[in-house]
Amino acid sequence: WWQSVEPAPKDPILGVTEAFLADPSPEKVNVGVGAYRDDNGKPVVLECVREAERRIAGNLNMEYLPMGGSVKMVEETLKLAYGENSEFIKDKRIAAVQALSGTGACRLFADFQKRFRPDSQIFIPVPTWSNHHNIWRDAQVPQRTYHYYHPESKGLDFAALMDDIKNAPNGSFFLLHACAHNPTGVDPSEEQWREISHQFKAKGHFAFFDMAYQGFASGDPNRDAKSIRIFLQDGHHIGISQSYAKNMGLYGQRVGCLSVLCEDEKQAVAVKSQLQQIARPMYSNPPVHGALIVSTILGDPELKKLWLQEVKVMADRIIGMRTMLRENLEKLGSPLSWKHITDQHTAYCKQIGMFCYSGMTPEQVDRLTKEFHIYMTRNGRISMAGVTTGNVGYLANAINEVTKP
Ligand code: LMR
Repeated sequence: WWQSVEPAPKDPILGVTEAFLADPSPEKVNVGVGAYRDDNGKPVVLECVREAERRIAGNLNMEYLPMGGSVKMVEETLKLAYGENSEFIKDKRIAAVQALSGTGACRLFADFQKRFRPDSQIFIPVPTWSNHHNIWRDAQVPQRTYHYYHPESKGLDFAALMDDIKNAPNGSFFLLHACAHNPTGVDPSEEQWREISHQFKAKGHFAFFDMAYQGFASGDPNRDAKSIRIFLQDGHHIGISQSYAKNMGLYGQRVGCLSVLCEDEKQAVAVKSQLQQIARPMYSNPPVHGALIVSTILGDPELKKLWLQEVKVMADRIIGMRTMLRENLEKLGSPLSWKHITDQHTAYCKQIGMFCYSGMTPEQVDRLTKEFHIYMTRNGRISMAGVTTGNVGYLANAINEVTKP
């Protein structure tokens, strides 16, 4: 039956974790996958999550959620993206469903796009999270790219980005990273977002925001939604993928949300019903536990406050590691500039999320792995969340060795 089946290529991100786990070396370091670690390199369960679990434990049942997931969780999640007092929420103009984290939200949207705009394509930034390509490919939506990162300046290629927006056919779909761009950590400034939004308006483009790192750019989820708020002010109808994997540390719980802002309540009801129709044959209804954790935290002012503090702690630890990595490389006398590890500040954020796009080549990364047991994606992305005071010196030394001219 399956003679023609060849092994699938390894996933460029999750394959790194597999290789890391298989390495017996005590020195090994994983700065591949974007998953937060404490300063001892251990995974973290947030205190607000532990408390929510204690509260849930007593009155848990295992019934199915509706196809669109937990209404309470979705309501709270929309406030984080659209704003606590959003008129769009009040007017019931948002079609929203619980999704299997950010990947699931993107996939639901891609399938929705294919079903209702079958001739459309999606413009994706270069570079982007590798799974974006898989998602829109499997939904059979043709992909185009737009300029984003400028390798020489290690910053945003704003002029080329604006040209690509202008030159795209009117009414195109664009995938935008709302904040803490993955993999580059380079975000447009507030002023640049305004210009992007105006240009989208002039061209009648549709913006689909992937917001997987809300809170990890500035330490403040509200501030990290600035790009989205600018688009809302300018009257765009947008779509948003939200995820609690990183900002609540709920990676394996697969909890997130897809929302689409509609003309009016009637349209929102129709769109939501279609999103549910897409979910039903794929997984029927989403899992209950993560959604309960989220709604318990966000529905309680004290727990929500604790969560916001804990997000800030995670964001601050990462920023501290950026500084230490750069200082270590400079102390070792590396002739290269490592300013970009810490200096990609934008008008509204002083921190740029989990990732550092180091500029290392795939061959240099291969040497890091072979000679130093350091695991990262071959595009040179370092997950700063895996850097600790214990391994930063070792990491800096290894990077210095493989990047020596
Ligand atoms: C990453 O980019 O490392 C994360 O988003 C994890 C993943 O699923 O790829």
